[in-house]
Amino acid sequence: MSNYKRTLITSALPYANGPVHIGHLAGVYVPADIYARYLRLKGEEVVFVGGSDEHGVPITLKARNEGITPQDVVDKYHAIIKDSFSRLGISFDIYSRTSSPVHYETASDFFRKLYDTGKFVEKTSEQYYDEENKQFLADRYIVGTCPKCGFDRAYGDQCESCGTSLSPTELINPRSMLSGNTPVLKETKHWYLPLDQYESWLKEWILEGHTEWKPNVYGQCKSWIDSGLMPRAVTRDLDWGVPVPIDNAEGKVLYVWFDAPIGYISATRELTPEWEKYWKDPETRMLHFIGKDNIVFHCIIFPAMLRAEGTYILPENVPANEFLNLEGDKISTSRNWAVWLHEYLDEFPGKEDVLKYVLTANAPETKDNDFTWKDFQARNNNELVAILGNFVNRAMVLTEKYFKGVVPDRINPTENDLETLASIGRIKTEIEKSLDSFRFREALKNAMDMARLGNKYLADEEPWKVIKTDPDRVKTILNVCLQVTANLTIALEPFLPFSMDKLRHFLNMERLDWQDLGSTEIMVSGTRLNHSHLLFEKIEDAVIEKQIAKLLQTKKDNEKALAVAQPAKANISYDQFDAMDVRAGTVLEAERVPKTKKLLKLKIDTGIDQRTVVSGIAEYYTPEEMIGKQVCILVNLEPKPLKGIESQGMILCAQDADGGLVLVSPVVKVKNGSEVK
Ligand code: MF3
Ligand code: ZN
Repeated sequence: MSNYKRTLITSALPYANGPVHIGHLAGVYVPADIYARYLRLKGEEVVFVGGSDEHGVPITLKARNEGITPQDVVDKYHAIIKDSFSRLGISFDIYSRTSSPVHYETASDFFRKLYDTGKFVEKTSEQYYDEENKQFLADRYIVGTCPKCGFDRAYGDQCESCGTSLSPTELINPRSMLSGNTPVLKETKHWYLPLDQYESWLKEWILEGHTEWKPNVYGQCKSWIDSGLMPRAVTRDLDWGVPVPIDNAEGKVLYVWFDAPIGYISATRELTPEWEKYWKDPETRMLHFIGKDNIVFHCIIFPAMLRAEGTYILPENVPANEFLNLEGDKISTSRNWAVWLHEYLDEFPGKEDVLKYVLTANAPETKDNDFTWKDFQARNNNELVAILGNFVNRAMVLTEKYFKGVVPDRINPTENDLETLASIGRIKTEIEKSLDSFRFREALKNAMDMARLGNKYLADEEPWKVIKTDPDRVKTILNVCLQVTANLTIALEPFLPFSMDKLRHFLNMERLDWQDLGSTEIMVSGTRLNHSHLLFEKIEDAVIEKQIAKLLQTKKDNEKALAVAQPAKANISYDQFDAMDVRAGTVLEAERVPKTKKLLKLKIDTGIDQRTVVSGIAEYYTPEEMIGKQVCILVNLEPKPLKGIESQGMILCAQDADGGLVLVSPVVKVKNGSEVK
């Protein structure tokens, strides 16, 4: 790890069609941030870039559904994403966006260079066209019947019912989502990157040259390459994106996966006039932090683009993660099945580091993993509070209590003292080994071992007992504890930056470098410590239960959205319908029926008379809110005793998908007794 001068860290540009969630964080931004902070702490030259990916069909679809422009959509989410990253403390050197002018210029220049040097092949093919709207239809804009399972709302690229990937021409009875009409096939010209021509080079570069890449990454590359690469279209017929920068290409834009990775270059350009040294100097080591669904784009397509351009370096490594699930289910923006970062930050103020800790400790590095709120609570309470917080707190409080908060001398250290201090250096080596190979969960565990070491040392030495017989010895014990604490501020800095800032303040110490980690002389005796408080707080059951309830509600809402209406009942005659006498009436009195959960006793002015009705709505309406309401009441229903009360009619309700009842009442007040028909 020494033949490079600087590191360029890129993190996948999130689509600006929704906020970021814990899956994005665990997969990409938290590990990238840890790594960037680690290198900076080591004094290395590093640039960490990010930004929003603001093109692509899902953004135009969202805009259409909400009746706003694509620019409105990306402006909204770019602002939310950027702000939430900054609040979490993701230490980007720049967080840019692909709608920026610099990006348009960079992406256009890139395309034009490949075009001018003959790196593309031009092909004309037939694609679906909406004649009414006069535009070609992106795959997502076409719906039809799935040829595999018969689902009648399959998209042109995929059937969401059976999961099959499709091409639009496979759909039975295709329809345009713009007009609802049947689209026609029409010829259109596009530019393709002939990936097939890069196959042998990719084999050599990755399959032979990068056998050290993570098995999940290497494996995916191998299977793509082995199954044969085909030319990929890098342009689309769409009106949202970077326009194809050549003549006679009206109505065409760069394919989002062509322009987005160039966004890394644009962001670097925006950051510094010296951007070329990060992109063109072979002594720069470029790393792409991404999730597994991005592997082919970062390991095959983007490198082929860079290679075709000819003046750029290639990624040195692509430490892609697997997926994080949430409470056993795949995270999904459209189903709202996620823990949203901006909501977390609002609901857990001051607990930024806790989220980073849990996501790192449970990172999906080698396989998909599950985030659960119970695990979140357990890791906070049993690890951050009980191991790290507890050690630090005891070191601080005991020093305050026995030595008025002044760092005591270390005199005649025992073997256990020396062994404990020496362990710090050994742990440092372990952390480095793990971080250098992108094993962040292991690195964090190693760093936490330093706090475990402190706790074990305190348990062995029992200064609270020794103080009674040998106060001088306690000086040495607490000196050792404070050296361990000071080392923790370095070891955990990449993982828990806000908390280590606090801890340095307690210790009244400066921010040190990674090189200082392992030193046993950080805390100089005689130094006055600051007053400390708890570094981490316990998270109570009620807080967790609230989050779980929120997810349960999401589940219910989703089920409701999916629920299909019951089939219609058998026909009745008009006379049968006319036989029912339904009237508008107003509730005069309402009370619960004693010893029941569901029943309300209502007194209703039906316009004909005042009568009593017993109604099963007590779980949905209180007596107070019923009084004064106008309702619809079936007045000629056979009276029936319920819990000893004669019910003289029935109140009409709509039954919701989850069984809940909603009163049916005239949208404006009508005269009581009006017939409802
Ligand atoms: N927006 C893409 C996604 O969320 C990632 C783009 S990464 C980039 O999957 F390299 F293209 F920028
Ligand atoms: Zn299907």
